Amino acid sequence: MSEAMINQAAWQHAPGHPLRTGVADLPQLATNEIRIRNAAIAINPIDWILQEIALLPWLEYPAILGSDVAGEVTAVGSGVERFKVGDRVVGQAVGTTVNEPAQGAFQQHTIVLDHMAAPIPEDMAFADAVVLPLGLGTAASGLYGRTQLALTPPSHSPSARSEVVLVWGGSSSVGCNAIQLATASGYRCVAIASARNAVLLKELGASEVLDHASPTIVQDVVEAMRGRRLAGTLHATGGMDECFAVVARCEGSRRVAATLASPAERPAGVEATHIFGTSLKDDEVGPMIYRNFLPRALAARTFVPAPPARVVGQGLEMLQAALEALKDGVSAAKVVVTLP
Ligand SMILES: NC(=O)c1ccc[n+]([C@@H]2O[C@H](COP(=O)([O-])OP(=O)(O)OC[C@H]3O[C@@H](n4cnc5c(N)ncnc54)[C@H](OP(=O)(O)O)[C@@H]3O)[C@@H](O)[C@H]2O)c1
Repeated sequence: MSEAMINQAAWQHAPGHPLRTGVADLPQLATNEIRIRNAAIAINPIDWILQEIALLPWLEYPAILGSDVAGEVTAVGSGVERFKVGDRVVGQAVGTTVNEPAQGAFQQHTIVLDHMAAPIPEDMAFADAVVLPLGLGTAASGLYGRTQLALTPPSHSPSARSEVVLVWGGSSSVGCNAIQLATASGYRCVAIASARNAVLLKELGASEVLDHASPTIVQDVVEAMRGRRLAGTLHATGGMDECFAVVARCEGSRRVAATLASPAERPAGVEATHIFGTSLKDDEVGPMIYRNFLPRALAARTFVPAPPARVVGQGLEMLQAALEALKDGVSAAKVVVTLP
C-alpha cells in the first residue's frame, strides 16, 4: 500500500458540521518543506471558529484545520538542510492560510515549511512541545514584525533594558509566549491576567502581574507603570478599551499590536495594528524564531512550552471533543490531542 493511501485526516467538510475522519492525500514535498508524522496536535480558537463560520474568504471547504503539530520528520524536501528523517520537531502548519489541506494540522501527516519548524529536546514530550506554534508565531509577529511593534529580537544572552512590554491577556497562549519573548529581548514585562495565574506568569518572566478582574485595572496598571516607559503593548485578549486607556496614560510607545481588529475609536495618539499569526512564514520573523532562537532556547530551557498542555484524549476522533473543550474556555491551558 502506498503512503498516499494511509494518511487519515479529521476533515471539516463545511462550516457548521463536526469533523469527520477520512483519507487525505500526501502530495510531493516542495524543496523547502518537511513532512511530520504527528504525535500531538494542539487546538487554537481559530479552529473552532473556522468549524462554525467561513471566516477566511479564501479557505475552501472541505478543509483540514489546525496549526500546531509535533512529531517525527518522515521526509524532507530536496533543499532542506536543517532536518533529517527521524528528527523530533515542533511546527507551525499554515494550511488554512495557503488553502492547502496537506498543510493542515488535523491529520496524521502534515507538511510544514522548514523555516516554520524547530527541533525539540530528546526529553521534551511531543504533547508539551505542541502548545507552542500558533501562540508563539502570533506573539513573535506582534512583537517583532516590522509593521507591528518592531522590537529588538530575542537573544540567548539578552541585555537588560529599562523599557516595559505590556502584555494584556498574559495567561493566554499568545500571552505566555509574548511574556517569554519580551523577556528574552531584555525588556521588563508587565502582564494582565487573573490573579490565579500570577505565579505561572512570573515564572515565565513577568515582573508584575495585575488582575484583570480588578474594578480599577486601568488605574492599577498606570500606577505600576509610573516612572517607566512602554516599549510597546501586545494585546492578546481581554478588555481592549481598558488596554488603550492605559497606553494613552503611560510614557513611551503608544503602539499596540492586537490579535483582534481594534475599534476605530481610540484615545488620541494610540496606534493599533492587527497581527496575522502566520505572517512570519513570509518575513524575517519566521527564521528569527524557528531557526535562530527557539532550538537553542528550548534546549537551554530558557524558553519553555506554555501554557501547559491539557491532553483531552488520543486519536483523530478526539479532535472534535478538543475543539469543544477550547470553546468552553481555558485558563492558562492548551488543549492537546495525542496520536498513537
Ligand atoms: N490574529 C491572529 O492571527 C491570531 C492568532 C492566534 C490567536 N488569535 C486570537 O487571540 C486571542 C487569544 O488566543 P489564545 O489562543 O492565546 O487564547 P486562549 O489561550 O484560549 O485564552 C485564554 C485566556 O484568556 C484569558 N482572558 C479571558 N478574559 C480575559 C480578560 N478580560 N483579561 C485578560 N485575560 C483574559 C484567560 O485568562 P485568565 O484565566 O488568567 O483569566 C485565559 O487564560 C483569541 O481571540 C484568538 O482568536 C489571533
